[in-house]
Amino acid sequence: MERRRYGFVVVANRLPLDRITDERGEQHWARSPGGLVSALEPIARSAGGAWVGWTGGPDDDTEPFEADGVYLRTVPLSGEEVDRYYEGQSNSTIWPLFHDAVEQPAHRREWRIAYETVNRRFAEATAEVADDGATVWVHDYQLLLLPKLLRDLRPDLRIGFFLHIPFPPVELFIQLPRRAELLRGLLGADLVGFQQPLAAQNFLRLTAQLLDLRPHGEQVEYQGRTVTARAFPISIDVSEIDRLAADPEVQAEASRLRRELGGDRRLLLGVDRLDYTKGIDQRIEAYGELLADGTVSNDEAVLVQVATPSRQRVAQYQQLRERVEREVGRINGEFGDVGRVPVQYLFQSRSREELVALYLAADVMLVTPLRDGMNLVAKEYVAARRDEGGALVLSEFTGAADELHGAFLVNPYDVEELKRGVSAALRADPEELTDRMRRMREQVWEHDVDHWAQEFLRALGRHPLSATP
Ligand code: ADP
Ligand code: G6P
Repeated sequence: MERRRYGFVVVANRLPLDRITDERGEQHWARSPGGLVSALEPIARSAGGAWVGWTGGPDDDTEPFEADGVYLRTVPLSGEEVDRYYEGQSNSTIWPLFHDAVEQPAHRREWRIAYETVNRRFAEATAEVADDGATVWVHDYQLLLLPKLLRDLRPDLRIGFFLHIPFPPVELFIQLPRRAELLRGLLGADLVGFQQPLAAQNFLRLTAQLLDLRPHGEQVEYQGRTVTARAFPISIDVSEIDRLAADPEVQAEASRLRRELGGDRRLLLGVDRLDYTKGIDQRIEAYGELLADGTVSNDEAVLVQVATPSRQRVAQYQQLRERVEREVGRINGEFGDVGRVPVQYLFQSRSREELVALYLAADVMLVTPLRDGMNLVAKEYVAARRDEGGALVLSEFTGAADELHGAFLVNPYDVEELKRGVSAALRADPEELTDRMRRMREQVWEHDVDHWAQEFLRALGRHPLSATP
């Protein structure tokens, strides 16, 4: 069988397209959820090459195919592997632990075994599609073992790894069973990228503590190679959001939304995957308190929360959904009127156009995670505000807080501070808001996702656009 091989290969748990089954049982493709795909999809499209990943469903035997000039090399997972590798080790062990253990991480031997098996399958698929000396860019916490497994198969490759989520403090990382093996996995890469400088430092400290290596600066020698660990804060496709924000239809939709939500009511907005790291319940609770103490009234403002369904079979996500729905119901019951509720909650994924219309309509954007590697929603909101209007309330515990200095920064664990942040954003005078938004827009325009990819690939010793098949 003839197989094409590629000079540039992206490897991530998910392909950019997700195979979904609708209510009528019909299957179709949709954009995959989450920030990783939002950021990488435009890069892969412009660089060409191959993307190795999973279609999002169990026992899916879809053959590899091409979409938008990218060769999508599907990697199948059995139902049991979805349980153990994806919902188990990836999303019930590593995800909570790497997010400051805001929910209790669980540890199971069979999850670790499935994680290694699946990482090996991804490595084998990558080894098949990568050309001699190709650049391979591996992404995120589902594939921490992959760089080493791939290097064992293909020492000729140049391997980069980027972690989209936070890397935990040393004291938390060492709670992981087989922790040294995860580090060795990452050390298979030539370059390990993180969202924040402290994350890179934590990683290097761990190589000394657990493997007796001697990091110097941002580098460490490992098995005769130099591995570099550095921060590369990720960003968004700013011009895509800007183009949508300039589209008259999107602007008309923003006006329609404002009218329907009640003309002169101020609009507060949250847009997240329904994930316990996002601080959605804390945000809604704080809003409830603002209504209760009369700082805000139902006639004056409305909170719209759009939450994409995510990881719905994992217990902690089901519990979060129940908490959020209960709290929304309570607040609407207590403070609502007929035909006018204080919290509009949509448990839905929306198109890019609709999201940008919401960003344009929102007076205050609420991004309040307990912990987040970066948070692209914050950057998307800023990019959408060509009018230099709007206000961003942003958690200190996001990577974005390092960059968006014009935001109203809050500690989401402190409900009083969260309330103060929201009401300061609501009451700030327009000149102050324009000044804040201008500063944030400059930052976002200067550091878009293309800039991020180029910096990473330059540090890896490759440039994306020269890496054609
Ligand atoms: P994460 O990667 O943890 O989901 P980010 O904020 O970094 O968080 O990225 C989320 C991405 O998903 C953004 O590009 C955002 O526009 C998109 N997104 C979030 N919520 C929704 C939604 N309800 N509908 C459609 N897209 C969404
Ligand atoms: C975050 C993670 C990604 C993940 C995405 C969606 O962005 O960093 O790796 O793909 O969330 O989550 P899911 O579990 O649906 O892939």
